[in-house]
Amino acid sequence: MSVLQGARIVVGVAGGIAAYKAADLVSKLVQAGALVDVILTAHAREFVTPLTFGALSQRPVWADLWEPTGMAAARHIELAAAAQALLVAPATANTIARLAHGLADDMLAAVALATTAPLLIAPAMEHHMLQHPATQANLALLAARGAHIIPPETGRLASGEIGTGRLPETATLLGALRQVVGRGGDLAGRRVVVTAGGTQEALDPVRYIGNRSSGRQGFALAEAARDRGAQVTLIAGATALPTPYGVTRIDALTAAAMRAAVLAACVEADALVMSAAVADFTPIAVAEHKIKKREVASSDGADLVLRLQRTPDILADLDAVRAQYPGLIRVGFAAETREVAAAGRDKLARKGLDLVVANDVSQPDSGFGSATNTVTLFHKDGRTEALPSLPKTAVAAHIWDAVVALLAQR
Ligand code: CTP
Repeated sequence: MSVLQGARIVVGVAGGIAAYKAADLVSKLVQAGALVDVILTAHAREFVTPLTFGALSQRPVWADLWEPTGMAAARHIELAAAAQALLVAPATANTIARLAHGLADDMLAAVALATTAPLLIAPAMEHHMLQHPATQANLALLAARGAHIIPPETGRLASGEIGTGRLPETATLLGALRQVVGRGGDLAGRRVVVTAGGTQEALDPVRYIGNRSSGRQGFALAEAARDRGAQVTLIAGATALPTPYGVTRIDALTAAAMRAAVLAACVEADALVMSAAVADFTPIAVAEHKIKKREVASSDGADLVLRLQRTPDILADLDAVRAQYPGLIRVGFAAETREVAAAGRDKLARKGLDLVVANDVSQPDSGFGSATNTVTLFHKDGRTEALPSLPKTAVAAHIWDAVVALLAQR
C-alpha cells in the first residue's frame, strides 16, 4: 500500500506558467489514494481554473479567503490542522517571498502560517528571478525554518531560454511528498543500502559482458525504504532508471566497483539488500584497443576465446568480516531458472544471510524487466514464504517487513 493512501495533502498552486503541471500532480496524488485539498492563488487563477483541480481532486478547491459565505475563512484553520504535508508547486518568486516573510494575505499564505505540517516548496520561475539574491535569501530563510526546497530543474524555460527554474517532473514531486509523509515509518532512523541493476565487465573499450537485470526491483526497494523513513544509499549498476527523490545514488558499473561501494556504504548501516545482478566472472584482461576480427588468434583463426576469472562474492565477503559490520542484516537474491528452492536455501547458508529472495527468472511475470515478480522468501529461521505474482513495489514491501522484524530481534 502506498504511503500516500489516505494521506491528507494540501497542494498550493501559485501563479506561474508551470501551474498547468500541478493538475497532473493532483491527478497522480488522487490515484495514489491521497485526499487532496487544492488552494489556488489569485495569480494561479489567471493560468488555470478551480474547475480543473476540483474535477481531479473531487473536493472543493480553495481560491479566495474572502468569498461571501465565509467558508474559506473558517476552513483555513481546519485545512492547516488536517494537512500531513503542504506542497507549494509551482512556488513563484512572489509566493516564496510572501511565505518567507510570514504574510497571510490569501488562503495559501494563511494555511502555510497556521499549519504545523511539513512545508515543501517547488520553486519554478524564470532563471534570473530564481537567481536573484532576494529569492535566494527567501528560500534560504524558509529552508532554515525547516521547509523542504525541491530543487528546480535545468532545461528549456517558458521564455525559450535554457536555464534553471523548471518545475521537476511529477514523479519527483510525488517522491518528495512520499518521503515527508513516511518520515516516521518503521524504518525511521535506519540506514539501509540497496544494490540494483546488472554489472558490466569490459572486454575492450567498446564491449562488455552484461546481464538482463533492469534494476526495477532494486529501485522499488530503495523507494519503499525511503517511504518508511530510512536513509537510503542506492548502489546502481547498469540501469536506465531515474534516481528516486531523496535517495543517495552511487553508480558502480563493474563487480569490483560495486564491491568497493558496498563495503564503504555498509559501515554503520542497518541492512544491505543485494538485488543487483553482479557478474560472477570478469575478463582476465581488458584489451587496451578494440579487439579486431583479423587480429584474433585461435587454432582455426575464426573463434575468439575469452578467459574469465571469478569476481569476489560481495555478500560472502561481508560475512567473512562480520566484526566490521556488527548487526548488519544481509538480504541476498537468487535469480534462478531451475530448482529455485534448493538454490535459495543453499545461498542462505553458504553466504551467511538473514534472508534470500528467490525467483524463477524464466517465468514471463517474474524477474528481468517485468513490472511484477513472483518470489519465495527463505528466512534464516527456516520459514519459507511463497508470495504470489505481485508488483515489484509490493514485493519490496514484503522484503522490508521481513527486515523490520529482523531489526526488532537484533
Ligand atoms: N552476489 C554478490 N557478489 C557477487 C555475485 C553475487 O554479492 N560477486 C550476490 C547477488 O547480488 C545476489 C546473490 O549474491 O544477492 C546471489 O547471486 P548469484 O550470482 O545468483 O549467486 P552465486 O553465489 O553466484 O551462485 P550460483 O552461481 O550458484 O548461482
